[in-house]
Amino acid sequence: MKKNIVLANWKMNFDFHETTSFIRNLLKFFYDQNINHKKKIILAPSFPFLHISNQIVQGTKLKIAAQNVHHMEKGTYTGEVSALMLSSIGIYNVIIGHSERRTLCFETGNILLNKIKISIKYGFNIFLCIGETDEERKKNEHFNVIRQQLEDTVFHFSVEKIRFFYIAYEPIWAIGTGKIATIEQIQNMHCFIRSLFLNKYGESISNKLYILYGGSINHVNAKEIFLQKDVDGGIIGNCSLEFSKFLKIIQF
Ligand code: PGA
Repeated sequence: MKKNIVLANWKMNFDFHETTSFIRNLLKFFYDQNINHKKKIILAPSFPFLHISNQIVQGTKLKIAAQNVHHMEKGTYTGEVSALMLSSIGIYNVIIGHSERRTLCFETGNILLNKIKISIKYGFNIFLCIGETDEERKKNEHFNVIRQQLEDTVFHFSVEKIRFFYIAYEPIWAIGTGKIATIEQIQNMHCFIRSLFLNKYGESISNKLYILYGGSINHVNAKEIFLQKDVDGGIIGNCSLEFSKFLKIIQF
């Protein structure tokens, strides 16, 4: 059976002290309680703290992810961070296509595809976010939107490359809003996504594929979400900023 993944997306929230003390407290908690956590836990701090975060978790089961990577390999891109830079500090997990970046930073089409290509080249695990807007769901277009987002990104790649992908279904209307999707909406969409992978890449790939849910997961609703057949974990935003609540989520 697959081990559920919990990815804490700290976005632009924690400073140096908050980042490092959260990670140290988490490790201390596992050590003190002698807990061998059942979930694979990945933390995504901001760029300046990736290096120190990665050093703190060395030799433990915690992993660190970048929240973004630039779509070009190198060059005159002031203020950007490349895949080479991330790999040079031992970062091999990256979130790509988060709706906040798609809308606020206009990341679509070729930009996303290039980010994915470069991430594959450097051997990164790609947490690829997809999700529909409120309006699209109300118009009953959500399944088509998700299919299209997959066709525009991961479905460009051959079967050997699929092992790099972790799909994160994050309905945009549920991100940071406290408006959680219903269990049926989540399971139905995850099942749909898996069926698309089944049709395109076959049973073995679709069974192995991790499909995470993201959008207003908290310490109360996480358990039921994680128990769904086609849910293999979650991306946690707001609730990952509160230590005690995050502890509950990872212990379900
Ligand atoms: P949220 O964010 O848990 O605050 O809704 C999730 C995400 O943005 O990945």
